[in-house]
Amino acid sequence: MKIAVLPGDGIGTEIVAEALRVLETLDLSFETESALVGGAAYEAHGHPLPESTLKLAKEADAVLFGAVGDWKYDKLERSLRPEQAILGLRKNLGLFANFRPAICYEQLVDASSLKPELISGLDILIIRELTGDIYFGQPRGRRTASDGHFPGAEEAFDTMRYSRPEIERIAHVAFQAARKRSKRVTSVDKANVLETFQLWKDVVTEVGEEYPDVELDHMYVDNAAMQLVKAPKKFDVVVTGNMFGDILSDEAAMLTGSIGMLPSASLNASNQGLYEPSHGSAPDIAGKGVANPLATILSAAMMLRFSLNQTEAADRIESAVKHVLAQGLRTADIWSEGTTKVGTREMGDAVVAAITKKTITG
Ligand code: IPM
Ligand code: MG
Repeated sequence: MKIAVLPGDGIGTEIVAEALRVLETLDLSFETESALVGGAAYEAHGHPLPESTLKLAKEADAVLFGAVGDWKYDKLERSLRPEQAILGLRKNLGLFANFRPAICYEQLVDASSLKPELISGLDILIIRELTGDIYFGQPRGRRTASDGHFPGAEEAFDTMRYSRPEIERIAHVAFQAARKRSKRVTSVDKANVLETFQLWKDVVTEVGEEYPDVELDHMYVDNAAMQLVKAPKKFDVVVTGNMFGDILSDEAAMLTGSIGMLPSASLNASNQGLYEPSHGSAPDIAGKGVANPLATILSAAMMLRFSLNQTEAADRIESAVKHVLAQGLRTADIWSEGTTKVGTREMGDAVVAAITKKTITG
């Protein structure tokens, strides 16, 4: 097993270091190789996704990714900005299926801005299509408008598009995931306005007929945004397009108290995957040793489960995380009165200790 390790920028290096320590604690045989990505790669090689980094990622069984980005790169031309690295990896590896679970840990119920009764026991799975939609649709660009409200004015445009096979494959992913859970899928669209999402709705409905045991409903994205804060526990698996999924997954993250807790997996057709925390590079707290490493540690668990076929090791990481939360250890983002505030490294130490102890006592 070969893992490509791409820590990236900001807190990326600190949190990935903790996830690696956790992985090393488990008795697994794997090889890791690290490379620069994002702003760090731009500084060293003049490009956020150098050929060598892409090659390493392609040849690995899985990619463990930290985060990329810093405000100081906002003025660079788009193709050189750190975010292009993650978009390039998604596109080049064909990582079309993005899993973003939003689980509210019992000990963190009070960390959410929502009332405890709304989120206690929350366990939803957002499945976001990741290689299509307006993110990648061509044409896009800037030009002088030849029509519209202001002919002759400068304008910018992007193209929202989905093909039938792109929708079919993500729909299958969602229905199959639902079969392993409570057999309910909500497909989120904007079919009342957009052609792209009328096709989305039609195709998801057709694919749904192959899964008569799974209950399917459809919801417009504006309503879904509202229902997510009104009655989040009514959702189970949510499947949606790239842009709506980007937005709704951040919203869902906040239901759980902190985005610092949420892992993600992005898979291609051969189950090769990229695993990253759902949060960003947080340049404001980078280098201070205060970032929450749990989302990355939980991403490593998803990697063991989905790409490396190590279910038992994944379970051990996940129960170790629950254990440290039960011990009352909290990084700043999830800290509350009566709990113990710890830094990035101490949190990693605690997870390692919880795993080691379990090994000794069986
Ligand atoms: C995410 C991020 C990315 C996205 C950015 C960094 C390009 O927000 O993974 O959700 O928009 O997909
Ligand atoms: Mg996002």
